Amino acid sequence: MTRRLCLVTGASAGIGAAFAQVFASRGYDVALTARRAERLTDLAEQLRLRHGVETLTVAADLAEPGAVDRILGAISEQGRQVDALVNNAGYGVPGAYAATRWEDQAAFLQVLITSVAELSHKTLPGMIANRFGRIVNVASVAGLAPGSAGHTLYGAAKAFVVRFSQSLHLENLNNGVHVSALCPGFTYSEFHDVTGTRAQVSQMPKWMWLGADEVAQAGFEGVEANRPMVVPGAPYKAIATLAKLLPDEWGMALMARQSSRFRRA
Ligand SMILES: NC(=O)c1ccc[n+]([C@@H]2O[C@H](COP(=O)([O-])OP(=O)(O)OC[C@H]3O[C@@H](n4cnc5c(N)ncnc54)[C@H](OP(=O)(O)O)[C@@H]3O)[C@@H](O)[C@H]2O)c1
Repeated sequence: MTRRLCLVTGASAGIGAAFAQVFASRGYDVALTARRAERLTDLAEQLRLRHGVETLTVAADLAEPGAVDRILGAISEQGRQVDALVNNAGYGVPGAYAATRWEDQAAFLQVLITSVAELSHKTLPGMIANRFGRIVNVASVAGLAPGSAGHTLYGAAKAFVVRFSQSLHLENLNNGVHVSALCPGFTYSEFHDVTGTRAQVSQMPKWMWLGADEVAQAGFEGVEANRPMVVPGAPYKAIATLAKLLPDEWGMALMARQSSRFRRA
């Protein structure tokens, strides 16, 4: 019997690599994509040896508009289709909006919003036809909190991912396709090195940090249970609830005081 296939974006590091481990450990073949090809082939080799699954790697830059078609083309060339999708690739653009380059913001929107919407749109019909599908869209608690100065589009993009996932979740009730938004808080990965905030965030208390493995595990369990939103870790469940209850002006005042601890404005 052919195993199901899970496509993970941003699989070369952090939460994406952890998702690839979790899905492979549950018997899925995995298609791994990111820009760093060598990282992908190393992980693929590891997953083949450890879990006996088939793997496919596609090096692609999701900031390039044709990337999604190239990734899905490489999968269909192998006679496969995507049964599970983890839209995980992401990063932040530090600084105040006016001080950044539009090219960087446009690439950010392409990776964090357009590719998420496009991959979902192009893989959903096959999932619906098979009456089986899993989509995990990796958002963030930043998508649940009020806006903050710096990394301007990040919270907005993650709020998009949350709302988009909720709509997809409702459109696909009772057809075997599960859709969840995963909203982690601070997670050990390469994210803060890439974003240039490592020095700042290393001051954050230990209880605020999650492991990439526990985040991916929570995401897997959440989408299996078809929960529309998954917030890993008790502290972040409390923060998510607080963000819902607080009036936005209070939340924004709190963010104005606190965000310099983790954002570069
Ligand atoms: N870490 C946190 O504290 C945290 C908290 C909440 C949410 N998140 C979200 O979790 C997701 C994963 O982040 P992470 O923490 O695991 O960070 P990470 O360790 O930096 O991994 C990010 C992944 O995204 C890939 N990526 C970045 N730009 C890409 C592009 N243009 N095209 C293709 N792939 C690209 C990277 O691969 P290449 O560089 O090889 O392309 C890498 O595999 C992101 O969506 C992030 O917003 C993270």
